Amino acid sequence: MKTIDELIQDGVQGKRVFVRADLNVPLEGTTITDDGRIRAVAPTIAKLAEAGAKVIVASHLGRPKGAPDPRFSLAPAAARLGEILGKNVSFATDTVGDSAKATVAALANGEVTLLENLRFNAGETSKDDAERGAFADALASLADVYVGDGFGAVHRKHASVYDLPARLPHAAGGLIATEVGVLKKLTDEVARPYVVVLGGAKVSDKLGVIDNLLEKADRILIGGGMSYTFLKAKGHEVGISLLQEDQIPVCLEYLARAEKRGVEFVLPVDVLVSADFPDLKTKAPANPELVASDAIPADKEGLDIGPKTRELYASKLADAGTVFWNGPMGVFEHPDYANGTKAVAQGLLDSDGFTVVGGGDSAAAVRILGFDENAFGHISTGGGASLEYLEGKTLPGLAALED
Ligand code: 3PG
Repeated sequence: MKTIDELIQDGVQGKRVFVRADLNVPLEGTTITDDGRIRAVAPTIAKLAEAGAKVIVASHLGRPKGAPDPRFSLAPAAARLGEILGKNVSFATDTVGDSAKATVAALANGEVTLLENLRFNAGETSKDDAERGAFADALASLADVYVGDGFGAVHRKHASVYDLPARLPHAAGGLIATEVGVLKKLTDEVARPYVVVLGGAKVSDKLGVIDNLLEKADRILIGGGMSYTFLKAKGHEVGISLLQEDQIPVCLEYLARAEKRGVEFVLPVDVLVSADFPDLKTKAPANPELVASDAIPADKEGLDIGPKTRELYASKLADAGTVFWNGPMGVFEHPDYANGTKAVAQGLLDSDGFTVVGGGDSAAAVRILGFDENAFGHISTGGGASLEYLEGKTLPGLAALED
C-alpha cells in the first residue's frame, strides 16, 4: 500500500485528490453529537491541502435509499470540518452533478471541498458491478488521484470504496494506516491475557468475530442486548428482552467450544430490568429493578448489566495484557442504564494492557459519557470494519488500496 507521505513526495501540487472519508457521524437534527470521525480524518486532509492539492472529500452518512434525502445531508459535516481545519470547506450539493463539477472546478491549490452524501446515488451501494462502475467512472472524472481514508467503510464493496481506487492512482491515508497497524497488533502480537468485551444489540452481528476470537482470546465478556440470547441458550428466561431465537443453536455451539478450548466465556450475573424502554429524549427517571440474570420477570426487559456484573467484568479486565471492546453494555444514552458501559470503559482505563475501543457505538459512548479518549490505547473509527478485520475477512476497501 502506498502511504500518503509517499504520495505527497511524488507531488500533489495542483492535483485534484479525492479523499474517501467516513464522516458518518451521529446527528440530532443537524447537530453533530460526536465529531470523532471528522477529527480522525482531518490530519490527512490538512496534509494534502498543505502540499498544494485540491482536496475533494467524499463520504456516506446514514443509510439513505439511493436518492437525495435532506435528513442525511453532509452539510453539517462540511461546517464542522471547516472549523477543525481552520479554513473554509466548500460544499457541493450533489455527488457527480453540476454542483460537484462546478465546486471542484473552482478549487484553488490547497483548498478543500466536501461532496454531498455518496449514498444519494444508487450506484454507490449497488450490488450490480456495472451500476457501481458507472458511478465510479463519474467520480473518477472529478479527480486525478485517490486517497482511501474512510476506515469505517472499508468492509463495504461500494463504488467509492472499492471501484474508484481501481480507476485512479491511489494511496492509503494516515487514518487507515493507523487503524490497520492497531488491528495487526490484535491479531499478530497479542499480549496476554487477551480479553474481549462484546456488547450491542444483535448477537448475529458478532457471530463471525466470536467464531474467530474463540481461537485467540483468553476471556470473552458479553453484555448488552446480545447477552440475552446467550442467557436464553443457557436455559434462562429473559422476559421481553432482545432475543434472536434463531441464533440459540450457534450460541450453544460457541459456549461448548469455549469450554473445550479453555476460553472463559462470561455472561452477566445480574441485570437492570424494566417493563418500559426509557425515554431517551426527556431522560425521565426510569426506576429500573435489579434482578439476577436467571430471574428476569416475564414482562420485563434487561436494559443494562447490574452492579455484581460490573464488578465481575472489572476484575476480568484488571490483569489484561490486551483488551478489545466493541458494543455498549446497556442503553447508555439514558443515565439509569449507563453504568454498565461506564464500568467497562473504566475497566479499560484501569488496565495496564493495550486497550482498543472498537468503533461505532462504543467509541461514541466513551466520548458521550465524558471519558478522556486519549487515555485509551486506541479508539477505532470503524465498528463493522474492525469486527470484520478481526473475523479474518478480506476487506474490499483495503484490498483495493494494495498496489
Ligand atoms: C459505520 O458506521 O460503521 C460505517 O460508517 C459504515 O456504515 P454502514 O454500516 O451504513 O455501511
